[in-house]
Amino acid sequence: MQIRLENHLSDEEHRHLFGWGEDIFGADHLNLRWRPKDLHIFVDVNARAETHVGLLRHNVAVDGRSMLVAGVGGVVTALASQGKGYATYAMRYAGDFMCSEWGVDFGLLFCRDPLVGFYERLGWQKVEDAVEIEQPGGPVESPMNVMIRPCREKSWPAGRVKLNSFPW
Ligand SMILES: CC(C)(COP(=O)(O)OP(=O)(O)OC[C@H]1O[C@@H](n2cnc3c(N)ncnc32)[C@H](O)[C@@H]1OP(=O)(O)O)[C@@H](O)C(=O)NCCC(=O)NCCS
Repeated sequence: MQIRLENHLSDEEHRHLFGWGEDIFGADHLNLRWRPKDLHIFVDVNARAETHVGLLRHNVAVDGRSMLVAGVGGVVTALASQGKGYATYAMRYAGDFMCSEWGVDFGLLFCRDPLVGFYERLGWQKVEDAVEIEQPGGPVESPMNVMIRPCREKSWPAGRVKLNSFPW
């Protein structure tokens, strides 16, 4: 099992990681526009990418104050490789990477209800205040859970979050 970082996701990797089912993120019904990631973290097993975690850097506004966060998204493991700890491994790596290499104070991700516990076990916390995301028709309240993970024991400030971006 090996971590690999790339700026690009190949078509073959995309098919293997994301093409194993219909609506694998369970979010199709929300009809949201999503944002591409800047960096791709892969867990390779026998020289093939079995897990992917995408990262991007972005400034959000919390209670009117700008804050640089690492956006985490596109967390996926190919179907036959699930339940072996690969996503846990990739998420731990992504958490360390964003704090130490990118120097952000927080990571921020979107997820649906069944996965909240998975991320909580990895140190992520649900944002309780409203989060406004951008969509082609203008800003809307996020219909997904928003979770943050602090670096260096920071505390997430209270207040309305304006993403100023499509979600990721
Ligand atoms: C979520 C996902 C990335 C986990 O990948 P993985 O490599 O199997 O993860 P790990 O082996 O490290 O951990 C497995 C844990 O995932 C969690 N999990 C996975 N799917 C879940 C689901 N549908 N409901 C609740 N928990 C789930 C469980 O907590 C499980 O823990 P367990 O093995 O102790 O039961 C994988 O199931 C997947 O690709 N799902 C579809 C895409 C998706 O929903 N991604 C998350 C978007 S926020």
